[in-house]
Amino acid sequence: MRYRKQIFVCTNERSQDSPKGCCASGGGSDIRYEFVKLINEHGLNGKVRSNKSGCLDACEVGPAVVIYPGGLWYTGVTVEDVPEIFEKSILNNKSVERLLSTQRTWDDLDKLRNV
Ligand code: FES
Repeated sequence: MRYRKQIFVCTNERSQDSPKGCCASGGGSDIRYEFVKLINEHGLNGKVRSNKSGCLDACEVGPAVVIYPGGLWYTGVTVEDVPEIFEKSILNNKSVERLLSTQRTWDDLDKLRNV
């Protein structure tokens, strides 16, 4: 495996009148940068990677962050949440329950989309 952990942060941008919204307007780029900063501070460059991602199809409940291996999905992430996610999910293989996406997250998203 190339990296111990890989963090995908949606930074997709849509026009302001889009009903779906987008993770860029929720601070996707700042969230990604905060992960990069923490990776560097912890000397994990080359071991952990934070990537910009295109739309992860969770726009209305974004910003969305996915961490592999494990496929942890976080939604509604703010830049202030990043240190806690990093400490738990990157350094300690745990999850931040309050931000972890559940079936309810996806059911709510379907309702928002009238699926
Ligand atoms: S714009 Fe981020 S999940 Fe769609």
